[in-house]
Amino acid sequence: AEVIVLDTETAAGTLAAASIRALIMRKPDAVLGLATGSTPLSVYAALAASLAEEPLDMSRVRGFALDEYVGLPAGHPESYRAVITRDVVVPLGLDPANIRTPNGDVATLETAGLDYEAAIVAAGGVDVQILGIGQTGHVGFNEPGSSFASVTRIKTLTEKTRIDNARFFASPDDVPIHCMTQGLGTIRRARHLILLAFGEEKADAIASAVEGPVSSSKPGSVIQLHPHVTVLVDEAAASRLA
Ligand code: F6R
Repeated sequence: AEVIVLDTETAAGTLAAASIRALIMRKPDAVLGLATGSTPLSVYAALAASLAEEPLDMSRVRGFALDEYVGLPAGHPESYRAVITRDVVVPLGLDPANIRTPNGDVATLETAGLDYEAAIVAAGGVDVQILGIGQTGHVGFNEPGSSFASVTRIKTLTEKTRIDNARFFASPDDVPIHCMTQGLGTIRRARHLILLAFGEEKADAIASAVEGPVSSSKPGSVIQLHPHVTVLVDEAAASRLA
């Protein structure tokens, strides 16, 4: 992977946004892989700012979210559908009809994963996948032990991840236990991966993803199997790299 250490999150967001902007200029119906959580917010903000300064036709851009909680009521403000709408679709002026999130409805769990895979294939695959990484080393919600060949499916969140994500909910008990997530195999098929991480608490996860043994106990190490990966980190997240 190409690892770029930046002074600030804003600088990392600006760099990632420039790469996405160049992609859309080259391919107006580009397919973006969209992460949620705190990490990619600087990317979406920088892209929105760049579009405000110099508009680009975003009407044909397509997107696939990485994951979704299972069992939240439709329209729940912390569902990733709602988060992607708020943080990505609206500020970037995307057409909501072009943006998909995995279906976390409990009634359709058995088919939701393969439906999502089929939709990604029908779109021609993901051009650039934006990724964060969890302190457990997860990418998407592929917690340790996830197969490198896995596809979109239901997973159980670790206790640690539920605690980390409790900040978005009224109480830790409100964090769903299950999610639908793109698999590591799905993520590997994206043509370019941009992995971002900021802060000391991500340093171990970044070291094992970039330099550690390739092992499904460190799901982030899947990036070592990919030919085109850009890792954007601040000094703190880079602090345990050799
Ligand atoms: C989000 C996702 C997760 C997050 C990770 C880091 O769609 O799949 O892998 O990227 O949990 O979360 P933040 O960025 O909030 O630290």
